[in-house]
Amino acid sequence: MLVNMRDLLSAAKSGGWAVGSFSVANMEMVLGVLKAARELSAPAIIQIAEVRLKQSPLEIIGPLMVAAAKAAKTPVAVHFDHGKTEEKIDEALELGFTSVMFDGSHLSLSENIAGTQKIVSAARKYGAAVEAEIGAVGGSEDGSEDIAVNCTKPQEAQLFANETGIDALAVAIGNAHGNYKETPKLRFDILERCSKLVQVPLVLHGGTGISDCDFKKCAETGIKKINIATATFDSVEHNVAARYGRNEITNYYDLHAAEIEGAYLNAKRHMLIFGCDNKA
Ligand code: 13P
Repeated sequence: MLVNMRDLLSAAKSGGWAVGSFSVANMEMVLGVLKAARELSAPAIIQIAEVRLKQSPLEIIGPLMVAAAKAAKTPVAVHFDHGKTEEKIDEALELGFTSVMFDGSHLSLSENIAGTQKIVSAARKYGAAVEAEIGAVGGSEDGSEDIAVNCTKPQEAQLFANETGIDALAVAIGNAHGNYKETPKLRFDILERCSKLVQVPLVLHGGTGISDCDFKKCAETGIKKINIATATFDSVEHNVAARYGRNEITNYYDLHAAEIEGAYLNAKRHMLIFGCDNKA
């Protein structure tokens, strides 16, 4: 069923687990993630980032995501990831997304606060949740930029959350989008301070390549939403390639099934690590 992201994250808040937020680019990925959620009785979030709309137009994939969440057997929120423009964020809200992110991480603190406040008041009219980011997560969602990590300052995070009335806050603790070149060293000291000072659930971006142990530690230290994008795309690609390699794809529908399976395997693996199985 389609649910508000606020409700999903508040259910996770009291336990040491987090909800997986999986980026999708087509129907097969949506079906794969929801299959894993159903099998594990897990809540889930499906998301698409604004930079990916050139491949998957919002007016086409948006209604598909919302319809899939409504038909799902477990609670599913539909999230607009890394919203950069008011225009696209409004479009997502109008399509029925139950959560939107305003990414003002490249702005000054005061500009980020002002921009986020605007989105919070727009989203309230739809009852949708709002995520924002403070500090800067490294890399970029589509690999087109190499943004340096700028770790979140806990006191700024506290001020930001209080001033904006957001529902979830993405923090930068050494995490980065895309495949890590070196094993990431997450700053749990910063995460602990943010978690003490900020009342709303925290979000970890750049989930691909983080160790199982670090994921668990994050989920026990205030992170309640974990974003996974690259790992989903890689899993779909690798599963398709492996099945071609074994001559198991002989028509389009074999390919379709291999894509769903790739997304399913990746989502299932992460849901089990995040501890969100049997939490629906
Ligand atoms: P990865 O591509 O590293 O999994 O990051 C996902 C993400 O944070 C999307 O916002």
